[in-house]
Amino acid sequence: MRSCTKCALHQTRTNAVPGSGSPNAEILIIGEGPGFNEDEQGLPFVGRSGKLLDELLAAVPLSRDDIFITNVVKCRPPDNRDPLPDEVAACRPYLERQLQLLNPKVIVTLGRVSMLRYYPEGKISEDHGKILEWEGRILFPLYHPAAGLRNPAIKRELQKDVLKLPEALRASTNSANNSSPSEKNKEPNINRP
Ligand code: URA
Repeated sequence: MRSCTKCALHQTRTNAVPGSGSPNAEILIIGEGPGFNEDEQGLPFVGRSGKLLDELLAAVPLSRDDIFITNVVKCRPPDNRDPLPDEVAACRPYLERQLQLLNPKVIVTLGRVSMLRYYPEGKISEDHGKILEWEGRILFPLYHPAAGLRNPAIKRELQKDVLKLPEALRASTNSANNSSPSEKNKEPNINRP
């Protein structure tokens, strides 16, 4: 990833940001793409959004050592714009390989772009905080912390939603054990062929 030239983002990056955290994490958190600070340091969520993310995780409680964090695109989109579809497509094999290697029980997507990667029909305003299922894993979409920094109402939603992470983990254990229907069965199963 650090030497990738598959899309135009490599021309403007300082550092690619593959991700960080525990290789044994049960929870994979996927943001959108690196921002200014992440591009400078080569690490995910080290700016203001990252500080809010750390606060949110601490309430669960979880720390960065308990999880793995990466992004849909590994290089910073100029001026922090949304990544373009061809950039997301070029980076997709890296995210897929990370998912394979880490084999997390729960995928937490942060924001719309990341949620759409797994749930193209989803609407972040309706689906945030829902415990969904995707290809045998739990998918747990959250608002992006940057949206929470801009909007206090969204920050409150994030603070409420993140407390459901232990329930999302339990739901994944239930599905692995094939036990009685769990909370997630009340939500749409977004498994697709
Ligand atoms: N926002 C993201 O989506 N990812 C980061 O790594 C930092 C900010």
